[in-house]
Amino acid sequence: SCNCKGYRKTEVWISINLYEEDTLKKFKQFITGMTLAALVAVSLTGCSTSDQANSESEPVQDNKNQEVVELNYYSHSDENGERLAIIEAFEQENPGVKVNLVELPADTNKKLSMISTTLQAGDTSLDIFDADVTWAPIFASAEWVEPLDDHLTSEEIEAYLPGAMLANYYKGNYYGIPYRTDTGMLYYRKDLLEKYNKPVPTTWDELTETAKFIMNEEGGNMSGHAGSWKQYEGLTCNLTEFIWSYGGHVLDENGNVVLNSKESIAALTRMSDMVNKDQITPEGVVTFGSGGARAVFFAGDMVFLRDWPSGWGKSQDPEKSKVVDKVGIAALPAGSAEQKSYSTLGGWQVMVSSFSEHKEEAIAFAKFRASEYAQIEMAKRVSHIPSLKGLYENDEVLEAMPFLEQMYPAIANAYPRPKTPFYAELSNILQVETQQALIGNKTPEQAILDADASIKALLEQ
Ligand code: GLC
Repeated sequence: SCNCKGYRKTEVWISINLYEEDTLKKFKQFITGMTLAALVAVSLTGCSTSDQANSESEPVQDNKNQEVVELNYYSHSDENGERLAIIEAFEQENPGVKVNLVELPADTNKKLSMISTTLQAGDTSLDIFDADVTWAPIFASAEWVEPLDDHLTSEEIEAYLPGAMLANYYKGNYYGIPYRTDTGMLYYRKDLLEKYNKPVPTTWDELTETAKFIMNEEGGNMSGHAGSWKQYEGLTCNLTEFIWSYGGHVLDENGNVVLNSKESIAALTRMSDMVNKDQITPEGVVTFGSGGARAVFFAGDMVFLRDWPSGWGKSQDPEKSKVVDKVGIAALPAGSAEQKSYSTLGGWQVMVSSFSEHKEEAIAFAKFRASEYAQIEMAKRVSHIPSLKGLYENDEVLEAMPFLEQMYPAIANAYPRPKTPFYAELSNILQVETQQALIGNKTPEQAILDADASIKALLEQ
């Protein structure tokens, strides 16, 4: 078979076991189908190890006999025609290449488990994939993804926001190209704050008080605040924002675990109080992904929402939202007036599999996927904020997201989650312990203490 590096043992395996058996089973069936299809295609085109070597140094080889190279791109699903439009534009420029969109589930954790399973098997049917901003160390340490340095000029690298680009850097190489950055933001009901003459809150305590006041005045179903607080990656993003904004950290600059601090405890206490004491969160908040939290806000039943910019387009779409023209966006609150606001750096990159049989073409597609053209398309169709600095002055992008100008400092300074090959496991510990505090099974002190101990055990193993 073609250039298959075979099985590699990596740290990622532990995290795979944490995900839903059922989804994994279905995916394995799907993958087996894909692999068979890929093998049939390979035997028909007569690919061999030496063909592969040629095709890497001379990409035209594949086109000589008018054969079309097929790339499988494992991606978020197409929401509004944006991905298919980008693929079509790429195919028009590259008539010898066809890109198949393989849609992954919405949940970030499920994406990670499916891509890990496929790469771990050395499966050649995956060429290129969407990777979260925290995944470079996981995949690069396993040698499952291609270093891209030789394909990027320094001007190209410098065109991207430094934080978004740096997330792809691991031990001397870049392993992904960011096609979108992301930042946690505070969505608020402009109309309600005006009606009750309340300012946009700048601390979490103030947010809680304003929420309580408005809930009381409005009555009915009105609730105060929610974010993505179910047990998945979104909860880690929300939790870290609280921890940092109270002055705490999970790891220090040298990678030591410093989670157990009065600052982290104050942060988790604030979250848990919102649910249990102040009761400003809607019922079911601990089961909300970003979709769940948005649903309440878009129905007009919540004053504040912690969301990514991707919620913006939907909030302004009359078919999806009752709060069109009533929404403002601001930086997230801080722990106190003396502390700073922090938002978590999110975002997605394209990475190229080390097992791909068409790396040259896959890298060309990766670059196109993260190009200006593609990012403008994403901004207009699904309000994804650009990772290319220059696009923050682009008229089409600014028209799609008028808040970008004011939010640029928060976007450019978004703060990264811990960088480690054991990230999936570390994040899982934070999610589990945070939920214990939110549902009242543990005090915030205990949950922080336990998370700290488990993360130490994980990183010292
Ligand atoms: C968004 C962010 C990503 C984060 C995820 C959590 O997609 O871009 O970085 O991990 O939400 O679910």
